[in-house]
Amino acid sequence: MKKIFLMIFLVVFSISIVACTQTSDTTTSTTLTESSSVTTTTTEPTTIPEIVTAMSNPLNVGLFITETPETSMGINFKLSTDTEGYVEYHQSDLDNFIRIDATKKVTPVGSKTVYLYEAEMTGLTPGQTYEYFVSSSDGTEQSARYEFTIPSGIDNSFTFMYLADPQGTAITNYMAYAYSILNVLDYSQMSYDFVMSPGDTVNDHDVRSEWDWFFQYSSFFITRKPFVVTLGNHETGYLTDERINSLEFDGYFNLPNNGPTYDEFSEIDGDLRESDFDKGKTYSFDYGNAHIISINTEILCDGTTACSEYDHSNAEILKSWLRNDLDNSNKTWSIVLLHRGPYGLSYDTYNVRDVLTPIFDEFNVDLVLSGHDHQYSRAVYKNDVMIPFQEANNYERGILTLITDELYTNNFNNYSSTLGVTYFTGNTSTVKFYGGDKNSGIEVQYKFIDESPVIPFITVTADSIQVVSYGVSKNAALDIVPTGVFILEEFTITK
Ligand SMILES: [Fe+2]
Repeated sequence: MKKIFLMIFLVVFSISIVACTQTSDTTTSTTLTESSSVTTTTTEPTTIPEIVTAMSNPLNVGLFITETPETSMGINFKLSTDTEGYVEYHQSDLDNFIRIDATKKVTPVGSKTVYLYEAEMTGLTPGQTYEYFVSSSDGTEQSARYEFTIPSGIDNSFTFMYLADPQGTAITNYMAYAYSILNVLDYSQMSYDFVMSPGDTVNDHDVRSEWDWFFQYSSFFITRKPFVVTLGNHETGYLTDERINSLEFDGYFNLPNNGPTYDEFSEIDGDLRESDFDKGKTYSFDYGNAHIISINTEILCDGTTACSEYDHSNAEILKSWLRNDLDNSNKTWSIVLLHRGPYGLSYDTYNVRDVLTPIFDEFNVDLVLSGHDHQYSRAVYKNDVMIPFQEANNYERGILTLITDELYTNNFNNYSSTLGVTYFTGNTSTVKFYGGDKNSGIEVQYKFIDESPVIPFITVTADSIQVVSYGVSKNAALDIVPTGVFILEEFTITK
């Protein structure tokens, strides 16, 4: 099994490596053909350590979800100078080359200016594979050639990988992150259609190297699968700093712009956020039979760890947008992505709980995913009351605490979302753990606070949401190389 995964990975990986070694050539139909024809001449990495060592993504190329993921793909990249950029793509088995100009986003990052670019590849067909690359207008900077496939049949079933809080402060942190993911993929043999993260992809939003490391060690998925991410507190800045309106998050990422438009932010002294601040942070899209919503929980915070103040007037606009968005959905499932969750183990984020959970209850949201707490938990709540469960699987790790009530026969590992909303908080995918050091006092049914990365896979079918959370064993939290992988828990939500 291990060899099968590595072989599949390496076939794709080798295409990129070969393309990197070619000289730039704006006659793209020729270069694209060449890149495929010489694939077998490259020395291929054959083990996970070799794969991690070979990871490269100097132009920070990333694919991103769009409002129409069955026919389009968002893309973002970086160039080193103030120039124009473009994307070229074609269906891999056809010579239908399409070149599109990218929109430049001049972004201050620390003491430097970074030139970032976004575009959207459109007219795509489910079931087809596309090859693409990005380039500066004069061809002096060009990425590798990558491929992605638009899934077919996602109305029936799709899967996404969930990577909580990848934030790191050293390249070794991100190497550990890549090792953890690759070991889980190798162990589980899971395939996935997109990748989701609750934010905090970097520890310091104004440190360029952290962004570079994130893209480098995410390259094996982010150049081939769309990324879905919401804003974390580590990707934002002071509300009184004018840079709040040109965040690095907006520069490095490219997400749907269908979120709310606010009134003036006037309730917190010196708040400089503009009315379109939340575009590309709060957004929604349909994927198969699910409606998926990212909500920027920093809108409900004042930038402090306690997250105590917020602009109430604009929170009402957010609530109206959310209610309208859920009301207009005709999909079977509704899944919400937050950074700061309402029922986490580390922080009592009462603003998020007070403002959002009544709406989740009202519209019977099936699953709410979050991060930020760096301690894994799962809780099912309705109207701010934890739901009783009579039985559960035998958990080898973590702490299970069920409220029981003789009137209920619910199984904690297989239950209907009519019982309540499932609040699922990921342990980090990298190396930052609170490990029980923080305690919000919030009650949950299950918690796992060990210093082990956890990488869940979430499969949405016509009649269920199935979650399998894989834990990564290490001798020490900061270790790069894991010692093993285990299944932490599995559960199924039905209608
Ligand atoms: Fe956070």
